[in-house]
Amino acid sequence: VLTGAGISAESGVPTFRDADGLWERHNPMDIATPEAFRRDPALVYRFYNARRTQLARAQPNAAHEALARLQRDFPGEVFLVTQNVDDLHERGGSTQVCHMHGELLAMSCTACERSMRAGGEFDGSSTCPACGASGKLRPDVVWFGEIPYHMDAIEMRLAECDLFVAIGTSGLVYPAAGFVRHALAAGATTVEINSQLSEVTDLFHHQRTGLATAAVSALVDELLQQ
Ligand code: APR
Repeated sequence: VLTGAGISAESGVPTFRDADGLWERHNPMDIATPEAFRRDPALVYRFYNARRTQLARAQPNAAHEALARLQRDFPGEVFLVTQNVDDLHERGGSTQVCHMHGELLAMSCTACERSMRAGGEFDGSSTCPACGASGKLRPDVVWFGEIPYHMDAIEMRLAECDLFVAIGTSGLVYPAAGFVRHALAAGATTVEINSQLSEVTDLFHHQRTGLATAAVSALVDELLQQ
């Protein structure tokens, strides 16, 4: 199962490319790149601090909870990979969530390169709790131009999957947008759940248009009944 920002939309977490999305209000090249962080770290710290504060107010929704139920009750293996950096899958009851774009509630230190859990606010004077370096902490999220995490594990699962479900992703950003091709090459059945058609809808055997809270719950009920 691959999820994108659309699965968290009904929890009040803005997506990137919908009408009120994050990239409608900020140029991603000013925020979500290593160059942007070098150029104006204060702007980047403020952006991620605001998203952390917003996330603390959000609750997981029925789609997150349905996937947790699928992981718990489905007789086969369920591998959940998300492009989202929020913790709503975990708070909805999922385990072993594969965050290919990192996590909002983690920071990494550019001096000692450790990654650590971190809530709250950060700025250029924050010091690394591991090595004490000051001003070297960055959000542990994968920015444009950086390599997503856990690609080996993801590609291994795609090569052997029977069913590939993409939920709430626009299919515009690679490598995630290409996962459906790997799944098709492995002979998997592919299902897309989205509130509208995506860039890669044509590559799915089944396309279910609707809000994630309703459509994911319905799909999970069907899968658990089979
Ligand atoms: N239910 C189902 N789908 C929804 C809902 C909803 N309630 N709300 C929005 N969507 C769909 C939109 O139609 C869109 O296709 O979710 C998708 C969100 O697309 P994006 O905002 O592009 O988010 P995503 O695909 O996750 O972006 C991928 O881009 O900026 C980078 O790193 C960032 O991980 C992100 C990546």
